[in-house]
Amino acid sequence: MSEPVDRLPQTRKSYESPVFDRPESSPLALFRQWYDEAAEHVREPNAMTVSTLDEWGPSSRIVLLKGIDDSGFVFFTDYDSAKGRQLRTDPRVAVNFPWQDMERQVRIRGLAEAVAPDDSDAYFAVRPHGSQIAASVSKQSQPVDGREQMQAEYDAALAEYDGKDVPRPDHWGGFRVRAFEIEFWQGQKNRFHDRWVFRRADGSHEPADLADASAWTPVRLYP
Ligand SMILES: Cc1cc2nc3c(=O)[nH]c(=O)nc-3n(C[C@H](O)[C@H](O)[C@H](O)COP(=O)(O)O)c2cc1C
Repeated sequence: MSEPVDRLPQTRKSYESPVFDRPESSPLALFRQWYDEAAEHVREPNAMTVSTLDEWGPSSRIVLLKGIDDSGFVFFTDYDSAKGRQLRTDPRVAVNFPWQDMERQVRIRGLAEAVAPDDSDAYFAVRPHGSQIAASVSKQSQPVDGREQMQAEYDAALAEYDGKDVPRPDHWGGFRVRAFEIEFWQGQKNRFHDRWVFRRADGSHEPADLADASAWTPVRLYP
């Protein structure tokens, strides 16, 4: 059990993981290893916070990781949502996997780009029918008069697509976060944590192949 909110200053968990030494593998291999370990202990290990920018500053929200490969981390959303518009204007993005149950977090900085339409089609096609309908009618991040309005639009689309495939709407699809920096954090005793950040070996801030260990240099940071 944790302390209630009015005892926040006294709330304190001790972290005591094995020491996390210099990683020898590529960022992709290490991420995959940590992900599989998180999958054993974290309810939704693919839930990740995505932070974007607009003229007023950063904003963050949770989305679900739906794929990872050597070129980056893929999630799906509405391209006309607040985050969709922000990323289309300014692709700079940060991602955080908060795996506290593992005393770990993974932090990523990179650039987001839309995935190929075929990839969005392929994932849309395997979503449940109800989620496809919701994605079609939702004008994500736009004001709506009430729940009834949303429900009426949903019901109308449900009737329209009764027994038919729902086509992927143009405004819905994937983004791939291509990383130029990825940090692995492991909690340790006395808040003296282990942090290893993979930076580009050539000192650039260009995204690189996550499976190519030679493109990255792991750097230990003070906690
Ligand atoms: C656990 C969880 C998973 C979510 N997954 C997604 C997702 O995969 N895609 C998405 O667009 N929104 C997802 N959301 C909703 C977003 O957090 C957010 O409310 C929505 O995308 C609108 O964000 P925006 O207005 O900043 O664009 C999720 C929320 C939670 C709490």
